[in-house]
Amino acid sequence: MTETDYRALDARYYMPAFGRERMLVKGEGSRVWDDQGNEFIDCVAGIAVCSTGHCHPHVVEAICRQAKELIHCSNLYYVPGQAELAQRLVEALGLGLHKAFFSNSGAEANEGAIKLARLATGRDRFVAFEHGFHGRTMASLAVTHKPAIREPFLPLEPRCDFVGYGDLEALKGAVTRSTAGVFVEPIQGEAGVIIPPNEFFRGVRDLCDDTGALMIVDEVQTGMGRTGTWLAIEQAEVAPDIVSLAKGIASGFPMGAILAREGLEFTRSQHGSTFAGGPLACAAAHATMDVIGEVLPLVAPKGERFRAALAAHSPRVRGLMIGLPVGEACAAVAAACAAEGVLVNCAADGNLRLVPPLVITDDEIDRVCDVLNRALAG
Ligand SMILES: Cc1ncc(COP(=O)(O)O)c(C=O)c1O
Repeated sequence: MTETDYRALDARYYMPAFGRERMLVKGEGSRVWDDQGNEFIDCVAGIAVCSTGHCHPHVVEAICRQAKELIHCSNLYYVPGQAELAQRLVEALGLGLHKAFFSNSGAEANEGAIKLARLATGRDRFVAFEHGFHGRTMASLAVTHKPAIREPFLPLEPRCDFVGYGDLEALKGAVTRSTAGVFVEPIQGEAGVIIPPNEFFRGVRDLCDDTGALMIVDEVQTGMGRTGTWLAIEQAEVAPDIVSLAKGIASGFPMGAILAREGLEFTRSQHGSTFAGGPLACAAAHATMDVIGEVLPLVAPKGERFRAALAAHSPRVRGLMIGLPVGEACAAVAAACAAEGVLVNCAADGNLRLVPPLVITDDEIDRVCDVLNRALAG
């Protein structure tokens, strides 16, 4: 089937919620190939999902091995690999996080965080930040700011007030003793890789302590080594009450998680999911953590390599999460890069976003920056 035929099939039978450009049919490491045989260095990586690269042999082997043993068994039983993964995450992530609960996506992880915060505080209001993104299910959408995706679904629950990202004064006015939780990303990814100073997060922590609201840190995009540490919030030396994870946790096998500090947990029947934390997802996540554990010390230096090579364009860099302010030319620059064999994507407000696999090599980084610099010059 040609790409044109496929487009027609998709248009006829699939709901058109995404704008799509090409069809990727194969991946290996940081490389992907489309159905025409064109090769690309993939700096989209499933939007920060394929952190171990595409089809990492260790991850593939773990999934295949588990698939031959037990694909699914229900959370009515102890699940092979599940408690070990929870232990591993608690130990790797640190920051006083005490227990985990798994989900199938980032939005579902944030749903869990909302439920947990409501249960723990007995309060039902939230505060989140302008341009923040926390998912598209109804409650995660309620704490997501972007009007275009939120407004068609008003009224949304829980009620949420939004303040400027980084604006502690505005936050002080919004967080009260009725606030169950403050949702915050350590770096706003969908907004275009916006990185506030560490003091901002310390201020959020203090305000939560003063009011009894929970600090809920959404690390769906920034977590699992993306910024050079297991969690990005670690770099601000702030301990959250709840952290949500997904994307990079299992190399593309659908999975999410929340981790919470001691004293915050669901009791029997308060939460659940048929598929979440199943044997295959846990096997994929264990193998993913093996690989990330090995490459983690290299993530920050690789980010610095990008920073140096793209210095002329004022990049915002934290590990391998990179934003470039490009403006109206963003889509044209992304298209020019694709024509030269590099995939990048446009986040909000004309910001080019690069979130390559954490295993990207120095040679690949040099090639990406060379292509980008030429596309930005033209
Ligand atoms: C910070 C953040 N939170 C939540 C989500 C939602 O995750 P999912 O698409 O897995 O539901 C995303 C997805 O882009 C995200 O970037």
